[in-house]
Amino acid sequence: MKESKSIPVHLKGGDAARGLPARLHHNAWVVEDQERTRAFYEDVIGMPLIQFWIEEAPLPGGTTILSHAFYGMQDGSALAFFCMSEPKHHETYKSPSTELFNHIALKVDAATQDQILERIKASGYRNFTIEHGYCTSLYVTDPDGLRLEFTVDAPNLTEINEFQARTAREAFKRWNEGQRRSNNAWAHRELDDVS
Ligand SMILES: [Fe+2]
Repeated sequence: MKESKSIPVHLKGGDAARGLPARLHHNAWVVEDQERTRAFYEDVIGMPLIQFWIEEAPLPGGTTILSHAFYGMQDGSALAFFCMSEPKHHETYKSPSTELFNHIALKVDAATQDQILERIKASGYRNFTIEHGYCTSLYVTDPDGLRLEFTVDAPNLTEINEFQARTAREAFKRWNEGQRRSNNAWAHRELDDVS
């Protein structure tokens, strides 16, 4: 009983007896040019290169040599990028360009989001911001088509998490029954051009 008090409210819907993944370890993506990717993640976004592996990897019908770069975040997690040594393998295994809804989202504070936006603007990358109500998000797409989102949590996130802890399963049921009424009372947003 004592242990359950330490579980954050937004995680209480789970089965406490089961282990819960602690955090993102890394997200992997295939890129064409490690230096182009480094310039984007280190110089524009501000995430440091923390590991760079060069190693043999199994492929169907043989092996190849590839590189695997990791760019770190505060909690020890990372975004990771493979680069194939042979162009034919890049063509086979390159990541798909992400469309509007496929992305990875990273939590930042407001000052960091402002700094990233300034560097994105200075570098000429297209970007847009969406006010979701539960967070404010800056979107940019990296040189190999991975769409990134940098989120600043809403100041009333505790209230929002408590609402979701009470209602998420009921909303899930409604959706699966075909009901489409919005449950986001916090989203008062103008819809930006997101193309
Ligand atoms: Fe998102």
